[in-house]
Amino acid sequence: MVLVKEIYDKKEMFENKEILVKGWVRNNRAQKEFGFIDFHDGSFFNGVQVVYESELENFKDIQKIRVGSSISIKGILVLTPNAKQPFEIKASEVVLLGGSKEDYPIQPKRHTREFLREVAHLRSRTNLFQAVFRLRSVAAHAIHTFFQEKGFVYTHSPIITGNDGEGAGQMFNVTTLPLKDIPKDKDGKVYYEDDFFGKEAHLTVTGQLEGEAFAMAFRNIYTFGPTFRAENSNTQRHASEFWMIEPEMAFADINDNMDMAEEMVKYVIKYVFDKLPEEMDFFNKFVDTKLKDRLENVLSKKFERITHEEAVNILLKANKKWNVLPKQGEDLSTEHERYLTEEHFDCPVFVTDWPKDIKAFYMKLNSDGKTVAAMDLLVPGSGELIGGSQREEDEERLIERMNQMNVPVESLDWYVDLRRYGGCVHSGFGLGFERLIMYLTGVENIRDVIPFPRTPKNLEF
Ligand code: 4AD
Ligand code: MG
Repeated sequence: MVLVKEIYDKKEMFENKEILVKGWVRNNRAQKEFGFIDFHDGSFFNGVQVVYESELENFKDIQKIRVGSSISIKGILVLTPNAKQPFEIKASEVVLLGGSKEDYPIQPKRHTREFLREVAHLRSRTNLFQAVFRLRSVAAHAIHTFFQEKGFVYTHSPIITGNDGEGAGQMFNVTTLPLKDIPKDKDGKVYYEDDFFGKEAHLTVTGQLEGEAFAMAFRNIYTFGPTFRAENSNTQRHASEFWMIEPEMAFADINDNMDMAEEMVKYVIKYVFDKLPEEMDFFNKFVDTKLKDRLENVLSKKFERITHEEAVNILLKANKKWNVLPKQGEDLSTEHERYLTEEHFDCPVFVTDWPKDIKAFYMKLNSDGKTVAAMDLLVPGSGELIGGSQREEDEERLIERMNQMNVPVESLDWYVDLRRYGGCVHSGFGLGFERLIMYLTGVENIRDVIPFPRTPKNLEF
């Protein structure tokens, strides 16, 4: 048996030879004396056209094979240099392996993305989702390759945790307490001593804190795993479960951090262009016609770097009607991010030196006492792709920030330890993997780059 991908790679080798392939029917156009099957086996973005003729003893049955069925085909590979497709299979045997019912939802026509989300268990059989999810796989490999080649240690941070790593309170609880009869003390507080871990437990929102511990041992590390946020925001860019890549580097400051982030993003863009030309052409044709230009352009450009204060000044000078007025000292909203990266600069932009009160407790306080050494990378389409910072390495200042921000110092004492025993300047960032896939494909909704997305009030599959 051969894979369609192998035929594309070595078509001359298979020319006029008999081959056996197994896969699925995307379309079956039966005519009187012959028919065509649009055949895909999942190994490659493109499929193969199979031609069958009335001489075949089960010709009548083949004509009736429905879209979605699995089949096996024996036949001769014929090169067709003058046709749209480079070759076709002239079938000598077509066997139905698994039939498909008449109500198969993925018919050979345009379906809306909304509809396809409802059949997420079948949507990966369409061109769009074949392209998106293969790219997702390849991009993951690109990231591992990038960091492994630099000697970074891949660190598995825990998924169940006792800490709120961002101090933002957006965590899912993990418990085995009986929900109908939760044990409480006399003040009405949940009695966590009875719970599985004997304390409050959550799904992690970040692997950063554990990553910092490993960076203090291995110097350069990265995590790549699932993270969870119980954030009730129903937007195109937020998911309740998403994958994050979090490198952490000892002896690296905020500028080293941005250099690394920029190099990584460019590496992944190059990698997918190189490995997935068919998919990238498809996205450019059917999803976003400016995609390839935009990404190619980014490769040759240095990302912009501006401070938060400068960003707000740019927004204030812009001739725009804002829903939320930009203001010094305050967070940027989606429309502000979009304006900066899509209109003003038209390229990725790092925004640095954020007001300390809107950022996490672990970020390094700048000498102005007002801002922190944080950086967000904004990109067209996905908005905030990366969030990172230099970490506060000073024990006292860290504890002070934790107290000011109501982050429990006792339960994070181990984290403070990292400042007590050989602490050093260190930095890291978090890349939202889905936001990267959106950026690389032009797909606008995060629900369409996650195989089985989890968002508020949605837990199918
Ligand atoms: O900016 P965030 O919250 O930063 C952290 O979690 C840090 N601990 C990272 C670090 O310094 N090691 O999240 C990082 C990135 C965001 O820039 C965004 O791309 C993505 O994670 N992200 C989400 N992606 C999808 N859905 C959500 N709800 C997301 N929240 C954050
Ligand atoms: Mg952020």
